[in-house]
Amino acid sequence: MINPPNFQPPEEGHSIYYNGMRYLIGEVISQGYHGKVYKCEDEWGNELVAKVLVPRNQTYEEVREQWLEELNKLLLLRHQKITFVYAAFEHRNTFYLIIERCHFTLNDLLQLPISQGEVWLPHVAREVLQGIDFIHNAGYVHKDIHHGNVFLSLLQDKMNPSNDPIFMFKIGDLGITRLEKDIDVFNTILAEWMLPPEYLAPAKYGLIGKQVDIYHTGLLLLSLLLGEIPQFTCEEILDGKPRQIAESLSSPYSTAIARSLRRRLEFRTQSALDFWREISEASKLQ
Ligand SMILES: Nc1ncnc2c1ncn2[C@@H]1O[C@H](COP(=O)(O)OP(=O)(O)O)[C@@H](O)[C@H]1O
Ligand SMILES: [Mg+2]
Repeated sequence: MINPPNFQPPEEGHSIYYNGMRYLIGEVISQGYHGKVYKCEDEWGNELVAKVLVPRNQTYEEVREQWLEELNKLLLLRHQKITFVYAAFEHRNTFYLIIERCHFTLNDLLQLPISQGEVWLPHVAREVLQGIDFIHNAGYVHKDIHHGNVFLSLLQDKMNPSNDPIFMFKIGDLGITRLEKDIDVFNTILAEWMLPPEYLAPAKYGLIGKQVDIYHTGLLLLSLLLGEIPQFTCEEILDGKPRQIAESLSSPYSTAIARSLRRRLEFRTQSALDFWREISEASKLQ
């Protein structure tokens, strides 16, 4: 067994060869708890990221297992609205996922001074809900839909670079995505403001399942209308504050968003497609 001290993350400027292809590692984009994300480019000139798993009191086998799990989900859940995995390999006891590079997260967009939230909302909803619908139909629950895991990709016209890029929203980070039947209510690591009511009070509201993703998409869309990410305490979540805020907004989308934030699962929007139908209807009222 090789122990984690042998783990050797790359440095900016390193080239890694895999299957005859050279991957050039660029600057670090993000350093999260479980991994480091670097800019990366292959010889086709594809803009990529290298997601490198950083061991956290884990053995080599455990890190490998975690990498394989995320890789398998990325391969199984290949979809236009989910970040595309190009390659995966082990190099110097370190595990890599090579994924298409997106340009912004929704976090980045919310930092912009101009408030475009309501204009962007149906586009974000259509693409994110399409990805979620696909994940759900495959029997999985993403579980971690939030602003750092929803990306904006700007597709450049390579033949006419002066043309405006095409905007596309995508879901990423399948790290804690699980089969719906394997969801363990007590094994969920989420920020307090994102905790769904059924996590806090399963006996009252119902068991954790696909509708967690509906609830989280509701929070995401709510933040687009508010122009910032709302913070909720557990008490406020159990009091139904997220839904009340959605209802108090004078937006054509507030009814659809409020339904997605209902505490009782039987009253909450049932599926990603239903949610999209409601948003789509509301967009015609604008
Ligand atoms: N495909 C990508 N394109 C651009 N940036 C990315 C991409 N994947 C991840 N990132 C950046 O790295 C951060 C963390 O990556 P993520 O896959 O969400 O891992 P984790 O949250 O498990 O650390 C993202 O919030 C984003 O800033
Ligand atoms: Mg993430």
